[in-house]
Amino acid sequence: MQISFQTEIKTTGTLVLGVFEDKILTKAAQHLGSQINGTILKAINASTFKGKKDEVLSFFAPHGVEYSQIILIGLGKPEKLTPLAFQEIGAKIMVALSKCQDSHACINITDEKISDLAESVAFMAAGADIRSWKFDQYKTKKKDEVSLKELIFITANVAHTEKCFETLKAINEGMALTRHVVSEPPNVIYPESMAEIAKGLKKLGVKVEILDEKHMKKLGMNALLGVGQGSIRESQLIVLQWMNGPKDQTPIAIVGKGVTFDTGGISIKPSNGMEDMKYDMAGSGVVLGLLKSLALRKAKVNVVGVMGMVENMPSGSAQRPSDVVTSMSGQTIEILNTDAEGRLVLADALWYTQNRFKPQAMIDLATLTGAINVALGWEYAGLFSNNDNLSEKLTKAGESTGEKLWRLPMGESYDKDIDSDIADVKNTGSGRGAGSITAAQFLQRFVSNVPWAHLDIASMAWEKKDKPLIAKGASGFGVRLLNEFLMKHYEG
Ligand code: BES
Ligand code: MN
Ligand code: ZN
Repeated sequence: MQISFQTEIKTTGTLVLGVFEDKILTKAAQHLGSQINGTILKAINASTFKGKKDEVLSFFAPHGVEYSQIILIGLGKPEKLTPLAFQEIGAKIMVALSKCQDSHACINITDEKISDLAESVAFMAAGADIRSWKFDQYKTKKKDEVSLKELIFITANVAHTEKCFETLKAINEGMALTRHVVSEPPNVIYPESMAEIAKGLKKLGVKVEILDEKHMKKLGMNALLGVGQGSIRESQLIVLQWMNGPKDQTPIAIVGKGVTFDTGGISIKPSNGMEDMKYDMAGSGVVLGLLKSLALRKAKVNVVGVMGMVENMPSGSAQRPSDVVTSMSGQTIEILNTDAEGRLVLADALWYTQNRFKPQAMIDLATLTGAINVALGWEYAGLFSNNDNLSEKLTKAGESTGEKLWRLPMGESYDKDIDSDIADVKNTGSGRGAGSITAAQFLQRFVSNVPWAHLDIASMAWEKKDKPLIAKGASGFGVRLLNEFLMKHYEG
């Protein structure tokens, strides 16, 4: 599907027009000649369409008019039209267009009440692009549908709109990579295949290093290695660097949990729902997608991405509940539940990252606990941090991108709950609630004094049903959030 920007309406295919709340037509919808205008008013008055945000009204164009169909899209109140709202409107348009068997469409929402039309149109186009993402490569019988080939957005300033869209498109492409690897089944995505995909970023200028098991063993990463030891797939640590910022800028580090399949190990999960555990590598998928978008938009920033890749399987060589391992930090960990494996992977990945790169801030993303869903449902990812300033920046970026975060408390009394009887720390709490917090406390034991934030994305990485912007399936949650966070605070 081709997206382009023009100043003039193209008079074939479907025409999409904006209507504000209370049936107030945009200027674009008013200036189409009396025949079309009459039809629009008739259609609105014959329906319940009011122009509220996300309302849609589709109808065939009258006889003798060049367009095949007309779609009215509700814009709601002009003062509520944020960039995110425009993305959602673009997505809504995409959904409406996919139902109408037309290969070309032209979208015009021009009105002086839209303060920055160029930027708004770019966000709308980006929303349509996000909504058009599909994972259908394993469907051998393609549906008998006319597919959309061309989307033309009308803007008064083509150059400015294109420039803005270019950035958003780079973010979308990173997000699409994340969604792709998260959607792929675990017989296709495993630590070494992820490493191969990561190497694909080299051609964009990303530095890619792969640490294999031998290398990690030498570094003493026994917490990470222990999780992967039951699998025939070799564990990998993938280290990505995008250093396009000022020479003197200390990097920001992003670390991702990459469990390519989480059976639970010897503490095996029930079979019901276990298939969901293919997306237990979503944190690492976000790191990969983020670095891709930084490279595509040539971001002037220094970012390190670290992906801890393992497969958690039960077998004769698997780790047992009650095993004790020595992590890279030197701290010993008693493993009481082999299903609390993400924190073991991150313990070494975080330690490695902060010691090698001395980042100015370190953020990890992980589908870490089922308990985060009990706490926050499917609305917010959990945010845990040792730093108020970093938390605030991340929370704000979450609000403006719609990838929302909610900070949860941490503290000494929670920390006590993971003291082990025989080692320095144990990998589960005592089962008296707050499972997401004790998991975060565990991670914090492997973080020195660097500003750090942990995002528990277990309920956000996969959408169980369609949302305004994101269709059911892998969400890419985190990619837009972190791009926004970096653009706002670290890019010159
Ligand atoms: N990968 C899971 C958490 C998860 C659950 C992610 C649902 C996505 C959706 C994690 O490794 C896990 O198994 N956590 C356990 C921890 C427990 C054993 C302390 C959990 O949440 O039950
Ligand atoms: Mn687990
Ligand atoms: Zn897991």
